[in-house]
Amino acid sequence: MKSLKELEEIRKKTLENINLRKGREGYRVVVGMATCGIAAGARLVLMAIMDEIKNLELTNVTVAQTGCIGACRLEPIVEVYSPEGEKVTYIKMDPQKAKAMVESHIKSGKVIDEYTMTVIEGKIIDPVIKED
Ligand code: FES
Repeated sequence: MKSLKELEEIRKKTLENINLRKGREGYRVVVGMATCGIAAGARLVLMAIMDEIKNLELTNVTVAQTGCIGACRLEPIVEVYSPEGEKVTYIKMDPQKAKAMVESHIKSGKVIDEYTMTVIEGKIIDPVIKED
């Protein structure tokens, strides 16, 4: 378990890295970093996304953090905005899924449907239910 001081240092370092990537065009990736997101592993998801963007030498991608997205049980949540402003919400992410998402969605423009959330008549249908 990391101390609060260590976590704060990691947060600062992450924010510095993120700020280097700020841009106005291309994909924008937003990771939910409320307490529930962090408890569910959002920090590792964020790191995996940034690592994969670097590994694949993708440019023109902005990575940002946000707070409460309003669905603790679906965390870690990652929202991906296309250059045209369309949003895809990935839920229950982990580092492996995050890397796959970067490669498929950001690099090739192909959404990984089975990791995404579907809203039907105002109700959230998560991937487990979608498969039934
Ligand atoms: S506190 Fe968990 S999504 Fe808001």
